[in-house]
Amino acid sequence: MNGVFPALGGTDSSRSWFERAQASLAGGISSSARLTSTGPHPYPLYMHSGSGARIRDVDGNEYIDYLLSYGSAVLGHASPLLTEALTQVLHNGTMFGTCNVPEVELAELICQMVPSADLVRFANSGSEAVQGAVRAARGHTGRSRILKFEGHYHGWSDTLAISNRPTAAEAGPRTTPHAVPHSPGIPPGIVDDVVVCPWNDPAALRAVLDAHHDLAAVICEPIVANNACTMPDPGFLELLRQECTAREIVLIFDEVCTGFRTGPGGAQALYGVLPDLAVFSKALGGGLPIAAFAGRREVMEPLARGQVKHGGTYNASPLCATAALTTLRALNDPAVVKRIDETGRRIMEATRRAAHDRGIPCAVQGVGAMFQVVFTPDGARTRQYRDLLSADQSRYDAFRHELLKRGVHTNAYAMACWFVPATVTEDDLNATCQAVEEAFKAL
Ligand SMILES: Cc1ncc(COP(=O)(O)O)c(C=O)c1O
Repeated sequence: MNGVFPALGGTDSSRSWFERAQASLAGGISSSARLTSTGPHPYPLYMHSGSGARIRDVDGNEYIDYLLSYGSAVLGHASPLLTEALTQVLHNGTMFGTCNVPEVELAELICQMVPSADLVRFANSGSEAVQGAVRAARGHTGRSRILKFEGHYHGWSDTLAISNRPTAAEAGPRTTPHAVPHSPGIPPGIVDDVVVCPWNDPAALRAVLDAHHDLAAVICEPIVANNACTMPDPGFLELLRQECTAREIVLIFDEVCTGFRTGPGGAQALYGVLPDLAVFSKALGGGLPIAAFAGRREVMEPLARGQVKHGGTYNASPLCATAALTTLRALNDPAVVKRIDETGRRIMEATRRAAHDRGIPCAVQGVGAMFQVVFTPDGARTRQYRDLLSADQSRYDAFRHELLKRGVHTNAYAMACWFVPATVTEDDLNATCQAVEEAFKAL
């Protein structure tokens, strides 16, 4: 053991809470994603409290947390900065359903930090903000059809819950994938409005664009957080930009995971490729439910005029806008960004070394702030969703379980990724690297 954390003790309280939950909560869970968060456990862990990079479950086990509320708690758990700012709001009133000052300051800060943002609108979740961006793109172009990439995730709502995780049997040909609804209950008319394309394939992209002259938008995750941090091939984002410009299609970057995490300007600043619209959530709110879509004035203008409609009772409540404002002010500090990046890179390096020393093929892919360990057969990085279908799922489960036993909490879902908070201490980092080393030894 690493000496810093006890081995995973009993988890009986989590087990009994899950049993109890099933009597009242559909499936015992509040989001289908929690079903995949159990990994090799037959029940999920119930977390009770957190501080900095660490969380504790209801049985008192402590973990260094790289699930990080799916990247949201970027300043760490129970951040003193947020606690202080939000306590003030709790005293003053959390929402009035009216315009408020923090939403204005927040929009101004986003326009300052995000290169493509001239105008912003707020929402409460990534799914909602994606819907807002798609509505804006359709309103601007007067067209309906959207091109999305196989495996990219844009939320649970009907509009784009297509070909998120198709099986090999249903996915169709590699270069011309079928549009596969993610769930029963998505009407065929919605599916008809979505064209699916493989990621990182310029020829397939051009062919799909040539075949469809009625596209309102092309949407992508610029770094595919939901495909184990599959990176864009050099030039691919630039190609998307060129093709969309030439064909007058709105390019949407879904920066729900990358936004304010890969640096103050998100992936668009990292790669120097500007979309027409971008969607943000997760790190934006520091753990509170807020999201945004933002973009070029021309595309947002019909919305600004009130011609294209978008609403939401809770949009940018003082509570959530203040959380976001406080979080973004912190993330606008280059020292904070550097610390997140360096922490992640050290864990990635330790993982590569441990894998190499044991002769275990795997790709450690992503950037410091978000990355994943993928057990591809030859250790090659993934370029497309279908590459992930041949990765060794059971080895990933075993790796994640060995980490958990050593007090390191990561997403149980192999296609997701590690999210690094700004609050990992040197002790946390050493313990994480040691846990990684021991986990590979145990595999
Ligand atoms: C890239 C991306 N887009 C959109 C969403 C949907 O966000 P939410 O779960 O807040 O609705 C997610 C959620 O994980 C995401 O990762």
